[in-house]
Amino acid sequence: MSRLGSVAVWLACATSAFAKAPQEKEVWITLGTDALEPVRGAFQGQGLTLAAPTFQKGGVAVLRMRESQVAQLARAMHDKLNRCAGFVTHDSQAEAFAAVESDGASQSAQLVASLITYDINNAPSVNALLDEVQETEIRGTINSLSTNWTNRYYDVQSGADASTWLENKWKTITAGRSDITVELFPHSWKQSSVIATLQGTTLPDEVVVIGGHLDSINLSDPTTGTAPGADDDASGVASVTEVLRVAVLKGYRPARTVKFMAYAGEEVGLLGSKAIANSFKSSGVNVVGVLQLDMTNYKGNTFDFGLVVDRTNAALNTQIRNLVTTYQPGLTVVSAGCGYACSDHASWTSAGYPASMPFEASLSTMNPKIHGAEDTLAFMGGTAANSVKFAKLGASFVAELAKGATEGNTPPPTNGGGEDPGGGGSLNTAVFDATYKAPRCATAGPDCDSGALLDGRAGLGPELNTPNTLNAGCADGTSGSYHGDESIDRLEVSTTDGTTLAAGKTVKIEATVYAYSTSADKLDLYYTGDAASPSWTFIGTYSPSSTGTTTLSATYTLPAGGVQAIRANFRYNGSNDTNSTASICSSGAYDDHDDLVFTVQ
Ligand code: BES
Ligand code: ZN
Repeated sequence: MSRLGSVAVWLACATSAFAKAPQEKEVWITLGTDALEPVRGAFQGQGLTLAAPTFQKGGVAVLRMRESQVAQLARAMHDKLNRCAGFVTHDSQAEAFAAVESDGASQSAQLVASLITYDINNAPSVNALLDEVQETEIRGTINSLSTNWTNRYYDVQSGADASTWLENKWKTITAGRSDITVELFPHSWKQSSVIATLQGTTLPDEVVVIGGHLDSINLSDPTTGTAPGADDDASGVASVTEVLRVAVLKGYRPARTVKFMAYAGEEVGLLGSKAIANSFKSSGVNVVGVLQLDMTNYKGNTFDFGLVVDRTNAALNTQIRNLVTTYQPGLTVVSAGCGYACSDHASWTSAGYPASMPFEASLSTMNPKIHGAEDTLAFMGGTAANSVKFAKLGASFVAELAKGATEGNTPPPTNGGGEDPGGGGSLNTAVFDATYKAPRCATAGPDCDSGALLDGRAGLGPELNTPNTLNAGCADGTSGSYHGDESIDRLEVSTTDGTTLAAGKTVKIEATVYAYSTSADKLDLYYTGDAASPSWTFIGTYSPSSTGTTTLSATYTLPAGGVQAIRANFRYNGSNDTNSTASICSSGAYDDHDDLVFTVQ
């Protein structure tokens, strides 16, 4: 729960005079599932309808309602359950989900895949792909699917024919590449899923998946109604198709295997993706990251990407944000709620694989025409401009997770692979060091990167081994939520001239943080030449330039010492939590402290 957004627990138990809110603003509620039925009954008694919960977990449900109805909810809770403080309101669904889903660490512990470090170092190849992404191509695919296949329901013949059409399209795109196969994945109903496999060169057993759903639905007449599904989800399939097209066009050869998927039967309960994810799980396929593109073409909001925070992987979501910052600077990402199992990412998450889903808007601002005859390209202005951003994000996702290179470019090191013991590339990525109790790069190189090890704070988010400070000497504040409130997510130190870290060299620190405020949040940076017995030298205090995920940097000169460290102290200096001076270990409830240990030549 954040400090200002969530107005905490509703304590208006005794009063009956609830003022009506001036505007019909909507809020998100978390409440105990045991309260749902009694409250629904009470609402019915007053001629009101209680919305179905969009998410339930651990006995807590999330639902949306008009702010003016919060009063009735409070009344109902009181009358029916004799309870005063049984629910919490939130300004956004994301915040409500964060409240329910705060235990990100346990989510990653369930992963069946071996974890890789999500990092960004493949710019020449990514940019080569991005330069080729064409709106006209994406528009063409959306147009074909939504005008030639106007009913892609999972168990009708036209739905099956759409699969064959897409299979042929992908075969045409990939003709001439013997390292790519295109196949139907048949199911127990008529429509098949379609899978194109681009074989990895050096780590073929590690798999990156990018997909969308091929089926559509007209909710009032599923089997014979018109269901163009131009946005839901011809747009996602067209974006995936465009990533495949530019990969072939640029002669991209990944180190890991890449699978492009168009799922059958999503609209009837994620059937196709569930079948595929479960079959991969039972045969032990090591999927290291999944990107789901479902609804990419409707510009429903001022921001560019709504990043689904429920039933997705926090570390992969951080990578998505970093990909946007790096390759599409200026575009904006906000956390969005989706609802329990709203699209195929949930099938992968349930099978234990890390998945992310960026989409076009937020739940309340998404395309209002989906699931009916009017989900057309025309309704979206006759353009696929909005999907270009998603195809570019998809291409950057593939080339940074699967690495390798486009023709004429040099592949970067591929790190962290479960099948790549000691293989190239992990030299500069830190691993947790049980002696120092912080991430450490044990070999001197031009840089040292914490990778995903610091992502989060205290028990919030995926950060393991907290507090990740030397000797565990500085604990973190435990208030708030992961990526609702402050965290230091990543630290990197590198020489400015690209040579090996050595005394006297100028080095740059890059600190990626999640900022709550540009004015109240402050990052203090320190260094020490001796990580075993640290005496910290202050470098400076820095303010984040934006809220959300943002990177701050500073330079300093390396002192003498073989094993050195940097300390980042991120503090909230706000109304109820005052930390006005720089400190190596501030004590605020939202403060995060992280160290990075590195070897100097
Ligand atoms: N594209 C929608 C899901 C969606 C809705 C994504 C809003 C993002 C924002 C998807 O095709 C769909 O309708 N899913 C179903 C769930 C499924 C399990 C039947 C839904 O949300 O009702
Ligand atoms: Zn959909």
